[in-house]
Amino acid sequence: MTIRAVVFDAYGTLYDIQSVAAITDEAFPGYGEMITQVWRIKQLEYTWLRSLMRRYEDFSVITRESLVYTLRTLGLKHDDRVFERIMDKYVHLELYPDVRRTLADLKDYKLAILSNGSTDMLTTLVRNTGLESVLDATISIDSKRIFKPSPEVYALVEARLGVASAEILFVSSNPWDAIGAKSAGLNTVWIERVTPEAMGEACRKSDLIAPLTMFKAVRMQMDEFGLAPDYRVHGLSALVEILSSVPA
Ligand code: LAC
Repeated sequence: MTIRAVVFDAYGTLYDIQSVAAITDEAFPGYGEMITQVWRIKQLEYTWLRSLMRRYEDFSVITRESLVYTLRTLGLKHDDRVFERIMDKYVHLELYPDVRRTLADLKDYKLAILSNGSTDMLTTLVRNTGLESVLDATISIDSKRIFKPSPEVYALVEARLGVASAEILFVSSNPWDAIGAKSAGLNTVWIERVTPEAMGEACRKSDLIAPLTMFKAVRMQMDEFGLAPDYRVHGLSALVEILSSVPA
């Protein structure tokens, strides 16, 4: 196996989507975590529903619609200002602490993002967080008008970077995304961003154990498709070691 490009999922892998909880908790005290968990679950569900229904709308629309659903379901009244403040965090998400260092360590590889995010959302987020100069490409699925894990979407990387799928290492914290990429012929790393230690810590800090536990149960466990990622890691720095064991 030769690896020439390392490609990352954005939301939940490079960017901590739970960092929205600071804003949601300020707007709706006590509901911060709950909102982010339900929101994420619905956001992903809408990508799959719209793909199956052939009613594509871009990820910014889906992200708004799933937030409307979440606030309505939890019975949280809000005005436009609060809504827009929460949405704005989506283009100012925090990077996980291991991202900048690992991307610097991997500078000899082609580096890119492949994400469900719309081109607008992603380019703004990448610019706001200073990754523009580090990445060779920020690839949105929106030219294909279908979401991950459609194989067409993973094929975009080969076309954009000019690197064969078999020479790409794709990294995602989303189990279904990791095996989706595997199924499409990429080498894959599943990074477990929610570890048992993080769960324990969250349970100590909050009475709201249920939403986080549920989220881990339904979104952070490897799925049953008879497919497995090539590697399983707990932090991005592990990529350096993985890549040092394969010829460049
Ligand atoms: C993405 C979502 C799936 O960035 O996390 O594509």
